[in-house]
Amino acid sequence: MKYVAKAPRELTYFEAYAQTMPVDDDFAQRLKNQHVEQIAEIFKTPLTGTYNWDYTEQDNRIKRLYQLGKDLNWDAQTDINWYQNMRELTDEHSEKFNSFHFYPSYQAMSQEKKDEFSRHYQAWALSQFLHGEQGALLVASQLCSCAPTYNAKLYAASQTFDEARHVEVFSRYLKERLGLMYPINTHLKSILDKILTDERWDLKFIGMQVVIEGLALSAFGAIKVATLDPVLNDVLDLVIRDESRHVTFGVNYLEEFVACLTDEEREQRAMFAYEACVISRERLIPTDVFQYFGWDVEEAREYFLTGTINQLFRKLLFSRVLPNLKRIGLLTDSVRPKFEELGILEYENLAHDGDINWVELERPLEIKTVPTSPTTNTTLTTTVPLKSAASMV
Ligand SMILES: [Fe+2]
Ligand SMILES: [Fe+2]
Repeated sequence: MKYVAKAPRELTYFEAYAQTMPVDDDFAQRLKNQHVEQIAEIFKTPLTGTYNWDYTEQDNRIKRLYQLGKDLNWDAQTDINWYQNMRELTDEHSEKFNSFHFYPSYQAMSQEKKDEFSRHYQAWALSQFLHGEQGALLVASQLCSCAPTYNAKLYAASQTFDEARHVEVFSRYLKERLGLMYPINTHLKSILDKILTDERWDLKFIGMQVVIEGLALSAFGAIKVATLDPVLNDVLDLVIRDESRHVTFGVNYLEEFVACLTDEEREQRAMFAYEACVISRERLIPTDVFQYFGWDVEEAREYFLTGTINQLFRKLLFSRVLPNLKRIGLLTDSVRPKFEELGILEYENLAHDGDINWVELERPLEIKTVPTSPTTNTTLTTTVPLKSAASMV
């Protein structure tokens, strides 16, 4: 085990994928000991925990969500068909979904280099989800201790198990389908640090259940539309079911609590949620990928931020967060103009997760019978020509 003071900044390459590369490819050579090392970073937290001695089921909605968590379990090892081929990337698809399709530095690349860029861009995006899922795992485990009510503790335990499976499934996806992992984006890391090391349990709920998971839900939906990989589509189907439950829990549990706060306390929470949204916008810029390909980072960033596809995507991401903040009571008069400046206040009246859509949440999982090894009419995951993968967004 190697302890580090800061999260690593290097890319990680995976052996499972490297083994499928041609012998003369330099990928295998790039795989070093450091890439298979256990790396840990310590954080310390002044967590205030509670026992609960009455074991009273205080809120039937939370109890029902906990039951759903138990009923709708799935297993990444047996419920996902990992042996499906990616669909071919077409120019039409790239033009529609690739933010850099018309960027001169991208257009100047050979087809081989464009394919490599696509793989890196996907790996970068999915790596952030993986790191975010680890953050959710750690936060959910903290909530078992610090959520004050009995039902919420049980629910947090079921969410902890959900998040463990999310970490597992994204990790496997990166290892086997893409072969590399990007380090955590510094902006995402700063939000996770804040949520994990703040002792106020409701801040953890606001940061994780409402902002980060709300954003992730919208992003997963957008990626499902754009991806050419049926495996990723199936992974996201399962993860989205769980995340919808998590966000619903956060909104339902928080709304009564926030109503009891003083104005000053409520304003603190409203400002925290706003700042988490601002940082989250920054974390959507794939600066590490620009650097890897030797692009002018400032120029590429500017192009990315002003591009139509990206502007729409960055706004749409907040279509779930804003209505939920409003429902909880955190879209206060002091932060409304700030959200207006970000151009996302227009989403405030969309559907929120306070009214629970039980029909949708209780829909049985559609898990197909999947092969546990390659069959004659499928292709081994690790031999799929991944270089034809499209950009995620
Ligand atoms: Fe998750
Ligand atoms: Fe979650």
